[in-house]
Amino acid sequence: MNINFKYKINDYSLYEVAEINSTNTYFKDNYDKYSDKSILIALRQTAGRGRIDHVWVSENDLTFSILFNSKQNYQLPALAVLEALKEYNIDTKIKWPNDIFYNNMKICGILIEDIYLDKFYASIVGIGINLTDKEEFNVKNLNKLYDIDKYELLSKIAINYDKISELNDLKRLKLYKENSLVLNKKIIYNGSIYNVIDINEDGSLKVEKDGILCDISYGDIELMSVNYK
Ligand code: BTN
Repeated sequence: MNINFKYKINDYSLYEVAEINSTNTYFKDNYDKYSDKSILIALRQTAGRGRIDHVWVSENDLTFSILFNSKQNYQLPALAVLEALKEYNIDTKIKWPNDIFYNNMKICGILIEDIYLDKFYASIVGIGINLTDKEEFNVKNLNKLYDIDKYELLSKIAINYDKISELNDLKRLKLYKENSLVLNKKIIYNGSIYNVIDINEDGSLKVEKDGILCDISYGDIELMSVNYK
């Protein structure tokens, strides 16, 4: 396995590997060898991982991880991807917590993993973006996404990541809410249907069922109106 330094994107250092099991797994095992804001892009992942033990299938797509020395808010990478895609006039929405949807299809998944041993060491933000069809996940007709140069998109994401990092918590939450796919929608969580009333300051969902309010802070939700995996 050959990992090569490619170039800098502002103060990010971009490394590339032709094939690897998972860029997140690599940074988890080697976090102490890389500096803050190192990015590893893989042309192919053989064991891409998703949230909640899902697998992430990709081929000729954009798959990379960014290593940070500080904790990362889960909304940040989702907003960075959304804003970067806006620069191609591609309008997307965020399904809580940080999936990106385009025309009701999941085109991007984000896996954030923190490294805690005796203390916090690093946060790894893994991002997978579908730039090709995935029939098995009902991802097709990606239109403008097919033409995107993945290195250019990666640079745009890094630059937007920095811009959004500068927003205070309330401004970031406002932007997140404006681009939410689930706010004021009906969702299914653990087999029950809820109305999403708000997104709390701590990032959890405020939901309502039979007049009772509660918060959802972890797990997978499904939208009532969207058919996807
Ligand atoms: C999800 O939707 O469940 C999250 C998917 C995250 C996939 C990316 S691809 C780059 C990085 N390496 C991995 O193994 N996973 C993340």
